[in-house]
Amino acid sequence: MRIIAIVNQKGGCGKTTTTVNLGGALEADGHRVLIVDLDPQAHATLALGVDPDELDQNLYEVMAEPGGESQLSSVLVKVSEGMDLAPSSIVMSALEQKLAAERQDARTERLKLAFDGLGPSYDFVLIDCPPNVGLLTFNALRAAREVIIPLEASFFAIDGVQKLLETIGLLSDRIGNDLEVRILPTNYDGRTRYARQTLADIRELFKDLCFDTVIRQNVKLREAARHGVPISRYAPSANGARDYSAVAIEVEACPPQTTDALLEEDELPELREVMVRFADTAAGDVRIAGDFNGWVPDKGVRSVIEADNGSRVWTKILQLPPGTYQYRYVVDGEWREDPDNNNSAPSPTGRVNSVLVVR
Ligand SMILES: Nc1ncnc2c1ncn2[C@@H]1O[C@H](COP(=O)(O)OP(=O)(O)O)[C@@H](O)[C@H]1O
Ligand SMILES: [Mg+2]
Repeated sequence: MRIIAIVNQKGGCGKTTTTVNLGGALEADGHRVLIVDLDPQAHATLALGVDPDELDQNLYEVMAEPGGESQLSSVLVKVSEGMDLAPSSIVMSALEQKLAAERQDARTERLKLAFDGLGPSYDFVLIDCPPNVGLLTFNALRAAREVIIPLEASFFAIDGVQKLLETIGLLSDRIGNDLEVRILPTNYDGRTRYARQTLADIRELFKDLCFDTVIRQNVKLREAARHGVPISRYAPSANGARDYSAVAIEVEACPPQTTDALLEEDELPELREVMVRFADTAAGDVRIAGDFNGWVPDKGVRSVIEADNGSRVWTKILQLPPGTYQYRYVVDGEWREDPDNNNSAPSPTGRVNSVLVVR
């Protein structure tokens, strides 16, 4: 069972559309799919033709009282042959307050515990997150092993994405949940130069993290949502259906890597060990993020902290194949260039990244 969270704190970037239609495409390929609607706005629930007001129970009951009367299986709605829905409702917005007194660890584990009782009923579980990184999104990130971040190719705000990657990186560290993140450009209008340039920027910045597929703007996706079905059933030959079916093929082809798979890979390029150093008297926490680790701060990096004449020095040890890389430091949450490196490059978003050449 692969559990994938669809996350971005920005509203309107295509989270719900991706959850429902990737789900529809996976179902069309013969997989059993569970859609989990974590957004109190219940857009995914509505887009699957279910009226949240007509249900007696929804995810709220399951997450508010773990081990209580309501198990996840008792709130599921069957929406089609291969697809079930864990529905949301506006009451989900009360969950944060309801659980306020509980320890952070326990509060954010509710969804994960709910999934434990599912058994091997599904091939894919897709979680549609609300447009903020609060309790509900944390629950999704703890329950999932994979993350898809939809990014609007026409309205791309790098700051938000870097913040999100940082949060995911911190969370992975803290709970030892190694999340695999992928970026999906959405709402792409190839007729405008601006969108073409933005897409090129996203690809350059995130490289292999990006899906090859781009979701084009397609009005049939909106219509399908209004009709309460995935586009695979509403207009299977529309561009929107083709695009999401191409994403499904990419998802099917790339399950998250296990440590074993990494070790067995015999065609790995030769790695060089590279050290970069950052000294600061005032900083409390220094991380490094670049295209080599998907811009997730300190992911895959060994970190050594020493004192040097009253200043603290952070040494970051990277293992990289030869090539040219861009990076920035994250100093107490602030993204900064490397002050000791004159080699820099303008980033696609108008800022400056430091450049590291590994020979
Ligand atoms: N590729 C697309 N083409 C046309 N409309 C889209 C596309 N993706 C999303 N939309 C529409 O844009 C709006 C916002 O998308 P949605 O998936 O609800 O975003 P989010 O869940 O991130 O808030 C919805 O009305 C949706 O139907
Ligand atoms: Mg949504």
